[in-house]
Amino acid sequence: MAPILEISDLKTLARRRVPKMFFDYADSGSWTESTYRANEDDFQEVTLRQRIAVDMSDRSTATQMIGQDVAMPLALAPTGFCGMQHADGEILAAQAAEEAGIPFTLSTMSICSIEDVAENTTKPFWFQVYMLRDRDFMANLIDRAKAANCSALMLTLDLQILGQRHKDLRNGLSAPPKFTPKHVWQMATSPLWCLGMAGTKRHTFGNVVGHAKNVSDLSSLSSWTAEQFDPRLSWKDVEWVKERWGGPMILKGILDTEDAKSSLDCGADAIIVSNHGGRQLDGAPSGIRVLSDIVNAVGDKVEIHIDGGIRSGQDILKSLCLGAKGTYVGRPYLYGLGAMGKKGVTRMIEIVHKELDITMALCGERQVNDLDRSNIYSAFGEKYV
Ligand code: GLV
Repeated sequence: MAPILEISDLKTLARRRVPKMFFDYADSGSWTESTYRANEDDFQEVTLRQRIAVDMSDRSTATQMIGQDVAMPLALAPTGFCGMQHADGEILAAQAAEEAGIPFTLSTMSICSIEDVAENTTKPFWFQVYMLRDRDFMANLIDRAKAANCSALMLTLDLQILGQRHKDLRNGLSAPPKFTPKHVWQMATSPLWCLGMAGTKRHTFGNVVGHAKNVSDLSSLSSWTAEQFDPRLSWKDVEWVKERWGGPMILKGILDTEDAKSSLDCGADAIIVSNHGGRQLDGAPSGIRVLSDIVNAVGDKVEIHIDGGIRSGQDILKSLCLGAKGTYVGRPYLYGLGAMGKKGVTRMIEIVHKELDITMALCGERQVNDLDRSNIYSAFGEKYV
């Protein structure tokens, strides 16, 4: 096997091993995918300031996100269908994150349930919720996350209406998956994936089936999912979530300084500058492009995180230099999972950690917390030194 040196190596392997409909689900953005592409491309607009002849020994990438110790300022983002990239995917990714000392965020739309992940890990993980119409179900979900000892709740705010991904429609991917002969063929040509799936009982949305009202089987789940995202979401609802949860809360999906300001009264411990990985508003700017504006507007009042397009330690470092205190990857760890299961997630984390550490050193820094704009040469046409 060719050596796995960068995230794209894992992506190539995952593309071969995961049935097309699930690989495409991860590797797609809405409509023209211009925002999905911009998320990755815009990191090239930030250039780093190389320094020499400064002490680069005894480095550390350890810091905190929302007051919790992390081995580096990176968390695994919530991703739907994670357990379809590899059998028991959420459990494996959570275990890999735990071993690496970084947070794992479980999605509501996961295959393994909150309880499944809690039973198979030893440290608290984070849990993500959407604003759903069925408030009883939401309240129950939040209580289940509390009972499972989750140490943060992440509320996704940019999914009131679902963006359209052409690849999912072309592949006939529905939630939950309905299997046609085309799908059966895709699975039959992914023997390792099939073997894994045959060995687990976790094949549907574990947080929902048996918990939401009248959702007991695949067809009732399908209609429930289609109508649950709440288009009437307001900041009042966010306050309700905070009150019900009572613990650390992270708001995900903020891309505009006005929204960032509005979010300040909701009691959030952090906000994530995010366009949902380019899966919602196609044509929106990348997170890295708007990060500075949001940091300038509210960075002294709330911790700011970013996701979208991070494919390397250099991207993490650039985000930190522009004011983020934490970063997330979604697709990179899904590629790792699809490629090699838990080992692939561990490899993904090792790759970006090494890149972050070496890049930090070559910028003349020894502590990740010391990174700031002075480590950037230029960004988006602006010169910093
Ligand atoms: C769900 O949040 C998705 O982007 O698929």
